Amino acid sequence: MHWRVESAGLIKAHAKDIGSLLGSDSALIEFGAGSIKKAQILFSENSNFTCYVPIDICEQFLNAASATLKQEHPEFHINPILGNFFNILDLNHLPPHKHRLGVLFGVTLGNFTQKQVPEFLRCARKTLGPNACLLVSLDILSDPESHQKAYKNDPKGIRKAFCDNLITRINKELNGNIQIDNFQYAAIWNPADYAIEMTYISQCLQTISIAGRQFEILPDEHIILKSSHKYPEDHALKLFREARYDIEKSWQDPNSSCHLYFLSSQPENKTISPMQEQPVFGS
Ligand SMILES: C[S@@+](CC[C@H](N)C(=O)[O-])C[C@H]1O[C@@H](n2cnc3c(N)ncnc32)[C@H](O)[C@@H]1O
Repeated sequence: MHWRVESAGLIKAHAKDIGSLLGSDSALIEFGAGSIKKAQILFSENSNFTCYVPIDICEQFLNAASATLKQEHPEFHINPILGNFFNILDLNHLPPHKHRLGVLFGVTLGNFTQKQVPEFLRCARKTLGPNACLLVSLDILSDPESHQKAYKNDPKGIRKAFCDNLITRINKELNGNIQIDNFQYAAIWNPADYAIEMTYISQCLQTISIAGRQFEILPDEHIILKSSHKYPEDHALKLFREARYDIEKSWQDPNSSCHLYFLSSQPENKTISPMQEQPVFGS
């Protein structure tokens, strides 16, 4: 898994501030917990948390990370939930606690499409319930060249290996016959969506088969495997406001590449001010 140094450093630098915004006896609910390493930074830097709920769609990873955490932190109630964070999840089984903080760390929010971001924020609000807070990290828009540089294939080939793994899984799990060598990897900046697109460029005319369907791919045709959106600050503010969250506090890393937003959920009956008409992304 790709370990985001920027957001891990930010969490470490501000873990105590985050704790002071919450109060003692808090439950930490992590959406897309992965290796759980970033939540561990929050635990080790302050003692506000009594209960931790890692949520992930990958059962193997969730079980392994939770088991390790239980050994290292026997003082916590650890309640892993195998589930999809685009659903409203039931937290009624948790032991009593005073405050609740949901977190979505890493590049996950930036990987969502324009439709998925408000959908996630709505589900998180419903899952967490009234008066809960949400902490999310987002990559900040800077110059396209530096974004492209960060995603171009690296000497160890990790970026390309990530994409090759998707193709290998399509071939295995969807009975595909995609020839990886018929594509070239490139990281392409999409200015309309403020996104870096991890792309396979077809090197020839080819017909591929996936789950019994045939697709003709032209030479130089692009297949986008993953998009990583970068946010101008006003777009991030608009997103949160439209999803009925207030920004209580935000922090950014010294390179201004990543932002952490501490959000509070607005009460259901609060009237929202009229929004500007333009969509969040440029398209
Ligand atoms: C980019 S990783 C981030 C992991 C970790 N939070 C970090 O920052 O290092 C995204 C994680 O979200 C999980 N995930 C992806 N889609 C999900 C979904 N719809 N519901 C729950 N978990 C999901 C993945 O299995 C993965 O562990």
